[in-house]
Amino acid sequence: MRKQKKIQYLPRLSFDDYSKWMVRNHQKFSTAVWFDHRDLKLLLEDLLSMSNEFEGNDDTGRGESYRESQKNIAARVKGIKSLFEIIFSSQDPKSLPENFIVLDVLGGNGTLFRAFELIYGTEIQNPMFTSDMAGEMIQSAYGFGIPCIRQKAQNLLLKDQSMDGVILAYGTHHIPKKERLQAVQEAHRVLKNLGNLLIHDFEIGSAMDHWFKEVVHRYSPTGHDYPHFSKAEMNSYFIEAGFRNHEIIELYDPFCVSATSEELAIDALLDYVGNMYGLHKLVGEKPFQSEKKFQLLKLIEKYFRYSNFDSVLGAGESATRELSIKKTGDQFIAEIPRVALVGLAKKD
Ligand SMILES: C[S@@+](CC[C@H](N)C(=O)[O-])C[C@H]1O[C@@H](n2cnc3c(N)ncnc32)[C@H](O)[C@@H]1O
Repeated sequence: MRKQKKIQYLPRLSFDDYSKWMVRNHQKFSTAVWFDHRDLKLLLEDLLSMSNEFEGNDDTGRGESYRESQKNIAARVKGIKSLFEIIFSSQDPKSLPENFIVLDVLGGNGTLFRAFELIYGTEIQNPMFTSDMAGEMIQSAYGFGIPCIRQKAQNLLLKDQSMDGVILAYGTHHIPKKERLQAVQEAHRVLKNLGNLLIHDFEIGSAMDHWFKEVVHRYSPTGHDYPHFSKAEMNSYFIEAGFRNHEIIELYDPFCVSATSEELAIDALLDYVGNMYGLHKLVGEKPFQSEKKFQLLKLIEKYFRYSNFDSVLGAGESATRELSIKKTGDQFIAEIPRVALVGLAKKD
């Protein structure tokens, strides 16, 4: 432990100060961290030598605008709630054991942690453990006081069999293809027996795959050259990592943005999508210009569109097949559909 004491782990926090903070404030989660790993110093050096586009907002990054969009936790809460129900095996979160922990491997600055609070309230124990390789993401989660850890999906700094659930979601395609199996093997290693792994991404050839390739890749300053998943690819990782119990489903996972009028709801949706995907080569920096926003609206109408939801989990009667606006009470909700590919596996 002495060797890594002074390592600058987060942009504004040493590893030593991080460890003390975790032990003091998040004891249940800190006991899972492998502080006495034989090669901890090497693992940290490898982690800190990497950087990705989710750090700042310069030519190489879009982290700030991503974090700005995620202040609106409600926008993705429908799909996230379905992910929780799957990972909790439909148990009421109130009755989860006190030491239950779910690792959110690609957790950003704690979107799923905050979504848990929004859905279930702050009275019950929040089991979400936010993890991410980007220093600015974990620095921000730390600022919110959320249990968090900076680590790579491919090399988790956690003990064997220490997690009840593991989620790889909202960005799994960012893990290089040749390292994805390693990330699933790591998830298998840290899961307790009977723990669930959930992998969420988009299917190659789907509406979202086209959106990323033809719109995000073109208009984000960082591009978006990341291959999505096929069902066969997800299945092969489960099998090779040693999971015997697994299945692949499709999940309704829309964006829903509300405001006090139709126009404001559309405007807020455009801000959300422009920031989330960092489409600055199209809409510029904020405040986005209105004629550019109109172009973005046309693209959203073209790409976020589905013809059927046969066997898509969560796509009930209220699911929309294209951009729609509904009035609920005094709020107008602009909703655009997305269908995600979700792989589920149980360790036995
Ligand atoms: C699209 S963001 C999603 C963040 C959050 N889950 C959310 O939904 O708002 C993807 C995140 O994955 C992280 N990431 C990408 N590759 C990673 C890897 N190999 N290991 C850990 N984190 C990674 C990025 O730093 C980024 O914060």
